[in-house]
Amino acid sequence: MTLVEAARWAPSCFNSQPWRFVYAVKDSAHWPAMLKLLMDMNQAWAQHAGALIAVVSRNTFEANNNPAPTHSFDTGAAWMSLALQARAMGLASHAMWGIEHDNIPKALNLPDNMQIQAIVAVGEPGDKSELPEPLQEREQPSPRKALKDIVFEGQMPDGVA
Ligand SMILES: Cc1cc2nc3c(=O)[nH]c(=O)nc-3n(C[C@H](O)[C@H](O)[C@H](O)COP(=O)(O)O)c2cc1C
Repeated sequence: MTLVEAARWAPSCFNSQPWRFVYAVKDSAHWPAMLKLLMDMNQAWAQHAGALIAVVSRNTFEANNNPAPTHSFDTGAAWMSLALQARAMGLASHAMWGIEHDNIPKALNLPDNMQIQAIVAVGEPGDKSELPEPLQEREQPSPRKALKDIVFEGQMPDGVA
């Protein structure tokens, strides 16, 4: 609840707060069904997490049911707040798009205007040696693009990818 409390305070267009969270805590009655919504490669490690949180966004405004063009952007801010709160508490968090998209609306009972954005695994950092070999290799800091490749003054230069 501390994690979603942090997410709750994210900014959003018209303060529409389009984010919704559906969670399962490890070994609860809901855990096996939520774990099954991850693709196998993600289940391999996420089965050890303490909780799985499906991040869902409402793609229409509550006020008038018109399309809400910023729902993904807003919900992205909420997920980042959740991730930062987790980090501040010494927890690891990891978003996943490798999920069973076809099964999710029914499994989570999502209305038509609610879209899955990701399922996030949260838990105590584990021991790398317990991971399958190929995943162990990925346990190192991921690089990022240089600022010069993503920041531009005034206008994007021609040829930017
Ligand atoms: C929306 C989203 C979906 C992602 N999906 C997956 C996934 O299905 N499986 C996975 O192992 N990592 C997934 N990731 C993690 C990214 O690959 C990872 O954040 C990126 O490589 C940067 O690495 P870092 O977070 O360790 O710095 C996802 C991240 C985001 C934000």
